Amino acid sequence: MNHTNHNPSPKLNKVVPEAEDFLPLLGTDYIEIYCGNAKQSAYYYMTAWGYKPVAYSGLETGNKSSASYVLRQDKITIVLTSPLKPDGPINDHVNRHGDGVKVVALWVDDANKSYLETTKRGAVSVFKPEVRKDANGQVILSAIKTYGETIHVFVERKNYSGVFLPGYEAWSPSVPVESVRLQYVDHMVGNVGWGEMTTWVDFYAEIMGFAQLISFDDKDISTEYTALMSKVMSNGNGRIKFPINEPAKGRKKSQIEEYIDFYGGAGVQHIALATSNIIETVTELQRRGVEFLRVPSTYYDTILNRVGEIDEDLEPLRKLGILIDRDDEGYLLQIFTKPVVDRPTMFFEIIQRKGAKSFGKGNFKALFEAIEREQETRGTL
Ligand code: FE2
Repeated sequence: MNHTNHNPSPKLNKVVPEAEDFLPLLGTDYIEIYCGNAKQSAYYYMTAWGYKPVAYSGLETGNKSSASYVLRQDKITIVLTSPLKPDGPINDHVNRHGDGVKVVALWVDDANKSYLETTKRGAVSVFKPEVRKDANGQVILSAIKTYGETIHVFVERKNYSGVFLPGYEAWSPSVPVESVRLQYVDHMVGNVGWGEMTTWVDFYAEIMGFAQLISFDDKDISTEYTALMSKVMSNGNGRIKFPINEPAKGRKKSQIEEYIDFYGGAGVQHIALATSNIIETVTELQRRGVEFLRVPSTYYDTILNRVGEIDEDLEPLRKLGILIDRDDEGYLLQIFTKPVVDRPTMFFEIIQRKGAKSFGKGNFKALFEAIEREQETRGTL
């Protein structure tokens, strides 16, 4: 077997000792998607994706401006929010971007300190630390801007025992929900405009204290027609990983440019969700109608020469369209959905890591050619 190590192993340029990390992050707290019809989106995420209903905020709970549905699967919490009246910031967001991620909330021990340390270094404030209380205790929230209209909310919940946040009530509709065994957010990718990658890499490095794990240039990520550049930023303990993509010049339109055109600016491109059994997870998602990108079946003819031995049988991987890649530390299995909204913008990745800490560089070419075939059908290549 040919175990070519074509992937750079992810190396931290600087390792930040926990004690010196000015922004210790405990994990992704929640991801909030602003959408046109949160009620129906919630049904999709419950029935197709297996998220359990957790909490609700809306007219019945005293919220007169928006409705929010909180869903959870293991450590992944998503919030789906729609406006209730014709005008306002949520309406503007949906009008401009379509359904898209507004909030990437980060779980912290101290939302005051997180806000002070980041704004001191130049972060733009969205709102100052505020205490929210109910019968279950209190949370402290604060927020700063990141790329596009996306924001980071710092969530301090150590003195709170409620189901989600004050203002929400427990919600248990009679919808049949069967988990697909998704476990946690592995990484979240942001697409930014021409020449903006460095700005946002610097933002995560200087303002958030992240380190750069890996860099890909247009030589790594290009096909005959299109190209992009990417840098992966990670926080000190490695729990939060944010790759940042920028379009690069090719003979045709980059998928990143297509995203920027349709999203109306920078935003979250994909959310990678981890599973411990990708074959079971993807079998079930496909059965429920979730659509995935497909690479040509010839991909599987030579794949084992490239990645060496793997634990799984190749046949189910080929049948489902799951991709395989290897780095110095192990291998990974991954697959990407088609966009899950009407615009060619947001999608999901399902990933199972078997030692590998990288992002599937060996699959980029086959994958981007698959995306180009989709762009072709949309007339956006
Ligand atoms: Fe990814």
